Amino acid sequence: MDGKRMNNSPDSIAQNPPLSEGLSEVAPANGRAAVTSRNLHHQTWQNVLHLNRDLVAQSSPLLVSGRLTKVTGLVMEAVGLRMAVGSTCWIELPNNRIEAEVVGFAGDRLFLMPENDVQGLVPGARVTPAEPLRTPATLDQPQLPRRRTSDLARHLPVGEHLLGRVLDGAGRPLDQFGPLLEGKTAPLQSRPINPLDRAAIKDALDVGVRAINSLLTVGRGQRMGLFAGSGVGKSVLLGMMARYTSADVIVVGLIGERGREVKEFITDILGKEGMKRSVVVAAPADTSPLMRLQGAAYATTIAEYFRDQGKNVLLIMDSLTRYAMAQREIALAIGEPPATKGYPPSVFAKLPQLVERAGNGAEGGGSITAFYTVLTEGDDQQDPIADSARAILDGHIVLSRRLAEQGHYPAIDIEASISRAMNHLVSPEHFQQVQRFKHLYAHYQRNHDLISVGAYVQGSDPLLDRAIALYPHMEHFLKQGMYESEAYTASMGKFSELFPNEG
Ligand SMILES: Nc1ncnc2c1ncn2[C@@H]1O[C@H](COP(=O)(O)OP(=O)(O)OP(=O)(O)O)[C@@H](O)[C@H]1O
Ligand SMILES: [Mg+2]
Repeated sequence: MDGKRMNNSPDSIAQNPPLSEGLSEVAPANGRAAVTSRNLHHQTWQNVLHLNRDLVAQSSPLLVSGRLTKVTGLVMEAVGLRMAVGSTCWIELPNNRIEAEVVGFAGDRLFLMPENDVQGLVPGARVTPAEPLRTPATLDQPQLPRRRTSDLARHLPVGEHLLGRVLDGAGRPLDQFGPLLEGKTAPLQSRPINPLDRAAIKDALDVGVRAINSLLTVGRGQRMGLFAGSGVGKSVLLGMMARYTSADVIVVGLIGERGREVKEFITDILGKEGMKRSVVVAAPADTSPLMRLQGAAYATTIAEYFRDQGKNVLLIMDSLTRYAMAQREIALAIGEPPATKGYPPSVFAKLPQLVERAGNGAEGGGSITAFYTVLTEGDDQQDPIADSARAILDGHIVLSRRLAEQGHYPAIDIEASISRAMNHLVSPEHFQQVQRFKHLYAHYQRNHDLISVGAYVQGSDPLLDRAIALYPHMEHFLKQGMYESEAYTASMGKFSELFPNEG
């Protein structure tokens, strides 16, 4: 009795304000009876509302669906749905369902691209939209309003628990360490960073490779291209950087390369030590073009997550050319006309969108230093993808087949390579010495044939005499074994020893 009076006390009314203020006016004049009647009414309505709230929460919304009308090669057509480009849907089959993405439309027809293959599809199969995974709201992370298309993009797992893991382009583990249990996710497309908010590149990143540290110094937040033909040592060089860099986290995107290479890169090149602070996203050549694009976007998303945690991230993408090729496959399949050497215009729009996501965050935050490999088949530097990549990246390291054939590893062509942010990272004296190194090295190379046949007479060109004297030291300095690491300060020290008397 006492307890009941307590519940009906004016205090409890103050905590639960009445649904209708008008109620108290029609209540009897007796004070206590008025309060009780009002609260009973209040309570009844509250119960009804709670019950309805639960029922609404349990109900499933009206299911909209369309039908599959056409499948040609990689592209499917569906009718009866209005879905945004970039959204995901399911194609229901008798025994399973296939995930697909909307890649375009014409009139009422949607063009879909499967995440995997199209085996088993039947005419008229039901197509249903898949709602993007929403991140559960947490107290410390305010939810951004979902106004932009990037917010509605697919969400995939991110977090510290990904370190040491190998995942596919859809965030599913490829290794033997079981499923990902934690629920943190992030969208595959992020909002572009305001260029004025980005911190400038001003600190060097130790990549553990002598020639790069001293002659092609890379800054935190810089995006570099690694240009090379096949088999000249790209993977080994990237692996060396991944193992020996001073970055906190390494994210590796293996996009469109051979499946065998994925295992090789993880076990032989990265090794157990390297894997500890790495996340590998693998979308090899046998996966669908959509998966390859998604793999690259996912690796970038993971890198962004760690950058937003204030970490210095090294993002390695092998390769950017295969990413462009995947986009070409999709664009040509949905009817975009090819423009430059078989590449449709959308390819050249996609490349900067991916690359611009790397780089520095806001002042005082983390950074993403990125290396993108670019295939230059037949060592053709005029390839449209190589050309476009050179324009959007902050520097390029060219690997030369001639050097690789001589057993000069890493086969970095010092003359053809450049780090565009280097002058902001090193002292003017060091920068000058680098120019001097390049000048002497190039002068020796130009006269190499003359020297090797013994046609050069010592004393006729003082610069060449100096180059000949220094060449063995320069060559020794540039070579580095694949299991040898050289820290930044040691690289700089050894470099200045090359020119003891020249300032
Ligand atoms: N620093 C090094 N020291 C010794 N050998 C090296 C070094 N770097 C590369 N190599 C040799 O070059 C070979 C090819 O290297 P790698 O697999 O890295 O080439 P790639 O450019 O990635 O090839 P692909 O185009 O097939 O992916 C290696 O198997 C190795 O024998
Ligand atoms: Mg390789």
